Amino acid sequence: MTTLLDTNALRAIVADVGLDQLMDEMTERLRRSFAEFDDKSVSTITRTGFSYDEPQFGLLEWMPSMEEGERIAMKVVGYHPENPTVNKLPSVMATTTLHDATTGRLLAITDATLLTALRTGAASALATRLLAPVDATTMLMIGCGAQAVSQIHAVSRVRPIEQVLIFDTDDVVQASLRSRLPESVRDQVALRPVHADQLKDALSHVDLVCTATSVEPGVGSVLPDGPHRPDLHVNAVGADFPGKVELPAELVRRAVVIPDDVDQCLIEGEAQRLERDELGPTIIELSKEPELAEKLAGGLTVFDSTGWAVEDRIAAELALDHATRVGVGTDVELQDFTADPYDPYELGR
Ligand SMILES: NC(=O)c1ccc[n+]([C@@H]2O[C@H](COP(=O)([O-])OP(=O)(O)OC[C@H]3O[C@@H](n4cnc5c(N)ncnc54)[C@H](O)[C@@H]3O)[C@@H](O)[C@H]2O)c1
Repeated sequence: MTTLLDTNALRAIVADVGLDQLMDEMTERLRRSFAEFDDKSVSTITRTGFSYDEPQFGLLEWMPSMEEGERIAMKVVGYHPENPTVNKLPSVMATTTLHDATTGRLLAITDATLLTALRTGAASALATRLLAPVDATTMLMIGCGAQAVSQIHAVSRVRPIEQVLIFDTDDVVQASLRSRLPESVRDQVALRPVHADQLKDALSHVDLVCTATSVEPGVGSVLPDGPHRPDLHVNAVGADFPGKVELPAELVRRAVVIPDDVDQCLIEGEAQRLERDELGPTIIELSKEPELAEKLAGGLTVFDSTGWAVEDRIAAELALDHATRVGVGTDVELQDFTADPYDPYELGR
């Protein structure tokens, strides 16, 4: 049997567990997995896929990871930034499959659009907990789309955020952000929309910055450089395509840049502007050595979040664990095994 977690199953899990609890569990599972990460038993392959400009700009990528002898996870994720306005679909849509790493059998398929937002938020929560000022109360959020929801949610779970200055080039998306946030965040956090010409001033007085935009390759940065508090922390989430960046090059060069996946960040993250030896420790290394993070937290830090395949396996497993507990999900005979393993035609008899 293959377990299928569709939108209804995920909806039931969210209703049972609650978004706050899910985000906290996701953050804790990421922290634990990173702290215990062993590259001898876990492997990933640099993501690849198809990208195209017609009929609209987009890409479809696959992100595999394997725990030796246990499971192989593969997220297939699409990024089509015109989707929300043209097709009334999310920009980022994903599905994750889990296979048995001994037999290759398909164990589970889960919708991973919510899970992608959750794990991307959780990765920022982890980086924020390791690197951002402990008294951070103000944040600048650039890009107010789908990922902004889980970024603000995640960060406000680990820091006492009271005010978020928000900016989006699309006024409608900027205006609707509050209505998309969980109630707990709406109770805790005041949103203050700002204009493009106020971004430099905003940077000068916030404690934290997060960027999650669909800015086109070659067009960024989305933030002007300028003065900021010396221990500012930035979660840069949206640079995930060659040529696509969100932060000013000078700011990236001044910062200690913390990659999630070094090779991926050098190809498609903020680190595109840096050499390998100019990068700081990875988020995995910092999770293993939080004392090192404490030292770095006194200066400017950038979490270069491009999205790591291992995070998607952890997110799928979290959903499956809850599905088992709550009793949701459908077991389907997707791979119908016949009595004779040598006889694929048995089905037709
Ligand atoms: N790091 C990761 O693991 C990860 C995970 C998921 C998505 N992403 C990336 O995050 C980005 C945002 O994803 P999303 O799902 O929120 O997309 P979305 O389409 O829902 O929202 C993106 C928003 O950015 C706005 N925008 C575009 N250019 C801007 C600019 N110059 N200044 C301010 N706002 C601007 C758009 O108007 C839109 O509202 C995408 O690039 C996506 O690929 C990264």
